[in-house]
Amino acid sequence: MAFELGEVLIAADAIERRVRTLAAAIDRDYSGGRLHLVAVLKGACFFAADLARAMRCDLSLEFVQASSYGAGAESSGQVAVSYGGELDIDGARVLLVDDIVDSGRTAGAMTAHLAQCGAESVRTAALLSKPDRRVLDVSIDYLGFEIPDRFVVGYGMDYAGRYRNLADIRTLRASGGSGNGVSPASEIIPTPYPPAYGPRR
Ligand code: IMP
Ligand code: MG
Repeated sequence: MAFELGEVLIAADAIERRVRTLAAAIDRDYSGGRLHLVAVLKGACFFAADLARAMRCDLSLEFVQASSYGAGAESSGQVAVSYGGELDIDGARVLLVDDIVDSGRTAGAMTAHLAQCGAESVRTAALLSKPDRRVLDVSIDYLGFEIPDRFVVGYGMDYAGRYRNLADIRTLRASGGSGNGVSPASEIIPTPYPPAYGPRR
């Protein structure tokens, strides 16, 4: 099946405002001491860059790769984590930065991995969440937007390597369709901020 771009789900200016709000909340929570951002390539590249630039606290920024693997169309549900060199986060306060939490497997595996590397604390920031798709119950401490179960592209997110460079986040729909797969903007729930996050674990 062929796909084409659908409607704009979240416009660039709304993303920008939201990222600034998240950055301010993270700054407040992590004043006094360094925060280590660990961003998941490739989808979170722009989110991580914009978030880090909007933050004022003392931080470092690392990028890691996470890939689901398994035979056939169905992912095995296992996630492989890789990066060049070492992740020096022993005793560190770590914030995992991801583009979208879908099944929750990537965030779950990454969080476990970061804890295994000796992080003192691990929280998660995600630009998007699709709660309807969750397989693993993961907590998102700083969430941009909750969206319905639609495939989205833009602002770092891709379909077959394409569309990462779009400034807006858009849906993808079967080409030739008349609106299939397109969500009206009213379905998007900007998470009230601050949400009920706080020290956990
Ligand atoms: P999870 O492990 O199932 O939560 O998947 C998370 C990863 O799948 C995200 O970090 C994205 O890389 C990718 N993903 C999930 N949904 C979408 C989407 O709608 N568009 C683009 N990538 C997606
Ligand atoms: Mg990703």
